[in-house]
Amino acid sequence: MLLERETQFASLNEYAEEARSGDGRLVLVSGEVGIGKSSLLEELQVDLRDASWLWGACDGLFTPRPLAPLRDIAREIAAHGDTGIGDLLDGELPRERVFDEVLAWLTQRHRLTVIVVEDVHWADDATLDLLRYLGRRLRRLPVLLLVTFRDDALPATDPLRVALGELGTQRSTRRIDLPPLSMDGVRRLASGGPHRPEELLQLTGGNPFFLVEVLGHEGTDVPGSVRDAVLARAATVGGSTRTTLEVAALAALRVDTQLVSSAANATPEDFDALVAAGPAHRGRRDAALPAWALAPRGRIDDPGPSSGGRAPSTARHARGRLRRRCPAGPPRGGCRRRCHGAPARTRRCPSSGGARRPSGGSCSV
Ligand SMILES: Nc1ncnc2c1ncn2[C@@H]1O[C@H](COP(=O)(O)OP(=O)(O)O)[C@@H](O)[C@H]1O
Ligand SMILES: [Mg+2]
Repeated sequence: MLLERETQFASLNEYAEEARSGDGRLVLVSGEVGIGKSSLLEELQVDLRDASWLWGACDGLFTPRPLAPLRDIAREIAAHGDTGIGDLLDGELPRERVFDEVLAWLTQRHRLTVIVVEDVHWADDATLDLLRYLGRRLRRLPVLLLVTFRDDALPATDPLRVALGELGTQRSTRRIDLPPLSMDGVRRLASGGPHRPEELLQLTGGNPFFLVEVLGHEGTDVPGSVRDAVLARAATVGGSTRTTLEVAALAALRVDTQLVSSAANATPEDFDALVAAGPAHRGRRDAALPAWALAPRGRIDDPGPSSGGRAPSTARHARGRLRRRCPAGPPRGGCRRRCHGAPARTRRCPSSGGARRPSGGSCSV
């Protein structure tokens, strides 16, 4: 059961009814990775069983296939004996003709058709063009076009931003932005378990994917799935922004941005770049860093055999700088006591269930 999504379900059901009556809707469903975009639509499919559902997805490939979601949809339709759109895509037709034919195919539909296009932040240009084309022509069709995307990592000039700006002005377009779970939601998810909801919220920022993974994981280390997700995002930043991330990861779960700024020589732009690239709450620099901090810290503290047991040099320098800037050690959100006297290399923070923390002295509130 999905928590705290009643409003979004109500809106989606309303848009579906409007589409069913022939006033088609394009709904832009946005939110950071793991926030529950796909889950929301999967649950809607259970509610709207009488509609005909077609799913297509964009892939995070270095060279995305042109019109990949339409190809997925064509395959689904072909499985029911209609090879029309698949044949079109295999032919040499100009793109506009393909779009016209897709529209003609939708125009013949008599019952509500729900088309899902997932992860449009990875879309190729032709898919964005198709969405624009359909977005302008949905008004007389029994079609609900649901488009999911991550909007937290989009530069202002990204073609998707441009396409979204244009789609947003269409009368049939609606938007649903999924927020993280609240303290109450986290408490419900964590009920009966050993985790303290306050710490879980601080650790995960209320992101359901991180929450589910942490709750299902035994032990105090970072679940591999969460580490992979965070490292995949970390790989998208470089230079001084990367250094800022590594220093922030060494510093704490909840980061004192001034301390990290001075230790990493980071500019406000570096923090903004982290927020833009990371699983962050827009506009809150400090909240961007908890989830980021998880995996890089594990990696930096655990250099592994290939590095001969030595931490990467950026991490070593950052650690030294942090120690010089804050002799008492970096602050750690959630800690209620000071943990003096632990061995220098890896200390355990008693109030966080013994989670590892970097060397550098005590931890404080
Ligand atoms: N509102 C919610 N309440 C509880 N769990 C959720 C909620 N939204 C998502 N989840 C869980 O979080 C995980 C990630 O959701 P997913 O839909 O794949 O995210 P996205 O598509 O935005 O990346 C799934 O395991 C899902 O069950
Ligand atoms: Mg998804």
